[in-house]
Amino acid sequence: MKNLPAPRTVVGALCAFGLAVLSPASSHASADGIPQLRRSGLATQLFVDGKPYLILGGELRNSSSSSLEYMNPIWERLEAQNLNTVLAGVSWEMIEPEEGRFDFHVLDGLITQARAHRMRLGLLWFASWKNGMSSYAPAWVKWDSHRFPRVRLRNGDEPEVLSPLGEESAAADARAFGTLMGHLAKVDARDHTVLIVQVENEVGVLGDSRDRSPAAEAAFNAPVPEEWFRYAAANPSDLVPELRARWEAAGARTSGTWTEVFGPGAATDEMFMAWNYARYVDRVAAAGAAAYPIPLYANAWLNEPNANPGDYPSGGPLAQVLNFWKAAAPHLSLLAPDLYASNFDERCRLFTRCANPLFIPETNRNAESARNLFVAVGRYRAIGFSPFAIEANFPGSVPVPEADRVALGNAYGLLRQVAPLVLEHQGKDDMVGFSLDKEHPSIVETLGGVVLDISLDEIFGRRSEKGAGLLIATGPGEFLGVGGGFRVIFHNPAGIPGRVGIAAVDEGSFKEGLWVQGRRLNGDEDDQGRAWRFSSWEPGIETCSLYRGN
Ligand code: DGJ
Repeated sequence: MKNLPAPRTVVGALCAFGLAVLSPASSHASADGIPQLRRSGLATQLFVDGKPYLILGGELRNSSSSSLEYMNPIWERLEAQNLNTVLAGVSWEMIEPEEGRFDFHVLDGLITQARAHRMRLGLLWFASWKNGMSSYAPAWVKWDSHRFPRVRLRNGDEPEVLSPLGEESAAADARAFGTLMGHLAKVDARDHTVLIVQVENEVGVLGDSRDRSPAAEAAFNAPVPEEWFRYAAANPSDLVPELRARWEAAGARTSGTWTEVFGPGAATDEMFMAWNYARYVDRVAAAGAAAYPIPLYANAWLNEPNANPGDYPSGGPLAQVLNFWKAAAPHLSLLAPDLYASNFDERCRLFTRCANPLFIPETNRNAESARNLFVAVGRYRAIGFSPFAIEANFPGSVPVPEADRVALGNAYGLLRQVAPLVLEHQGKDDMVGFSLDKEHPSIVETLGGVVLDISLDEIFGRRSEKGAGLLIATGPGEFLGVGGGFRVIFHNPAGIPGRVGIAAVDEGSFKEGLWVQGRRLNGDEDDQGRAWRFSSWEPGIETCSLYRGN
């Protein structure tokens, strides 16, 4: 029997990768490391200052970033929760209160505050639409519904919602966004405090499956644009099954009106709206990218099971219409789910179809999310994660139970330490993230040529109720794990003879990128050699080395 060497590769990898997620923004000043998405093996990652970066973020409530004074005391709390990035709203009405007059003083102050707190930013362009409505459009846009037409619903109502078919609206929004991004190029092209920008927020028609304004009616009864068919022909394997089924059921036509090509009904209305919102958002994004080409994305208010388009914003970048957004919005780097739904894993899977990189700009702010973080980053190669209302428990904000606040801070604290290693392995096939509970108490994975039975932790007849973590094969017979509430039992794959057992389990932490070894865990802590355990009351980072023998 042979003991495998201790996992020195972990330290080596961390040193090689540097401290991308730990360092203050200003120490990375460089003009050529502009934030961008890059393919890296099996993953698409966010690169900042030439290194991969994992967004351990939080989204502020909508109004917080409109006041620097309000924000001032919040930063420290976010730092204490181990965030490295904050998503903050920037509204059209505040930066262009009168047409053609721009005011960036609040945004500039926000960037200064973020830098002072070693925090990066994602900006949310609240402009033509926010949660389907147009509340953040400037008053000069709101009152002129001839120039900036509104959506019309089936019942004749014209709510305060801009129509995505409004030519002048798209042009005005694009001008404003282009000016905003041009400003960022001036004030941030060196420091890269702003990493990513969301264009609009949760677009789509509410209260009907589609816009029925005169321009929308005309477009709906006109042929489906040629660009769609060109995209579908060029990307046949990317077409999501629900869309393909609908198209084929209607005869797989390559020309015709929306109803002729996709059949009648609300699902076709949703496709039509997706195309038109995507075209509009892309026009805005293109103007921004021309001024300063950092990653841009759109986010989606997701449908609940059995909901109809219009119960949720119809035409937003949802999983079932992802192809229309990919075809019509090439200036967006990704489409992002606001993931409050309970079937987290499945939603992630749906949003990684069409080679869409995963980013979760909004999710619940609770202990369950702290567990989902490992699934998003470890299994679905997410570029980042960002619960909404991150300043919770701040005066004027929503209260959350202390346990939920602490759970996320702890999970971020652990992931921040191992982020360089996680980023190194995201593009390979040797890492897994998971979340376990009573309904899903175990999974089996093969990593580094060894079979891992991963289940809720158990010792002396006591079983954890929940567990989550991330496991990486760091070298032959060497693993690093992060999380709590689970245990791992190792086997050889079927057909491979011999025994695989635990040689050593060590706890530790990364300090400034270096592995600092803690206790050797070889008693109750590894169930006397039976299992690599991560206790639920002491989530942490551990390494495990295996022996192979007979
Ligand atoms: C999703 C939106 O995108 C946010 O701006 C906010 O309104 C939240 N919902 C509230 O839960």
